[in-house]
Amino acid sequence: MAVQRGLESSRPVERRLFSDPYASRLVRARWRLVLQGARLRPIRGLIERLYDRAGGPGPRASAIARTRLIDELLADISPAVQQAVVLGAGYDVRGLRLPALRGRRVFEVDHPETQRVKQARLGPVPDELHYVAVDFEHDDLPSRLEAAGYVSGRPAVFLWEGVTNYLTPAAVDATLAAAHALSASGSRLIFTYVDRRAIDVGEAAFPEAGRWLQAVRQRGEPWTFGLIPEEVPTYLRERGFELREDVSTADAGLKYFPACGRTETGSRLYRVAVADPIVAAS
Ligand SMILES: C[S@@+](CC[C@H](N)C(=O)[O-])C[C@H]1O[C@@H](n2cnc3c(N)ncnc32)[C@H](O)[C@@H]1O
Repeated sequence: MAVQRGLESSRPVERRLFSDPYASRLVRARWRLVLQGARLRPIRGLIERLYDRAGGPGPRASAIARTRLIDELLADISPAVQQAVVLGAGYDVRGLRLPALRGRRVFEVDHPETQRVKQARLGPVPDELHYVAVDFEHDDLPSRLEAAGYVSGRPAVFLWEGVTNYLTPAAVDATLAAAHALSASGSRLIFTYVDRRAIDVGEAAFPEAGRWLQAVRQRGEPWTFGLIPEEVPTYLRERGFELREDVSTADAGLKYFPACGRTETGSRLYRVAVADPIVAAS
């Protein structure tokens, strides 16, 4: 994701969907060199073509469209929400780069191994940004968050981007239960998921699924979890959330790319959902 965000950030201002000035600091040294080269337009074009050929058309445009969409969703959060929890933060640096999050307390929750590398590459961060080491498969999220200063009675926004597809259904359930338990009235959940038909039948449902699934398998991170969009409202209601919005990155792409004179398309298999917790009136 950091490479993709770095590539996007090397585009001229009027043709990019966002800017992530931290991305190149977070990637491995060889990718840093690639991102430096990408500042030259013909080299960036070549890198993107090679990148899209290796991963198949879809992943890069989908990642870029989802990043922009989520940036906008966060910019829309009510001023009453003063806490943001980024679940599986990885190399997402919205806590630093988004004006919408500045001044709010941001809790970056991630696997300890990913977090160690990020902290080493990024260096010191403002006091409002808290790192919380959690393995969603094994650790107790609420107690770790509260120990880091999260206040349970106040509203929060939970962002869970690019993670559910790597988890077991049990870990997704446990994390949703924790997010619900931690959500005061006025809270919001933003998460991504893949259409389960991509995992179950691959190219028969989505032409871009074949190479995409192969690429994540080769990286040793196969997709393990997905949802069928039609089932999402019920799935969430059973877990205490009301779905507000569910957008494919193909639809998000249609909104953003042509407006910048670009021809990329996102993907129908990768989706961004927004839900509000159903909180009993006290
Ligand atoms: C593809 S990255 C997405 C990162 C970031 N949210 C983004 O969109 O740029 C997946 C993230 O999920 C985290 N993750 C995967 N399995 C996890 C687990 N069992 N516990 C905690 N984090 C996990 C990884 O450490 C990684 O940061």
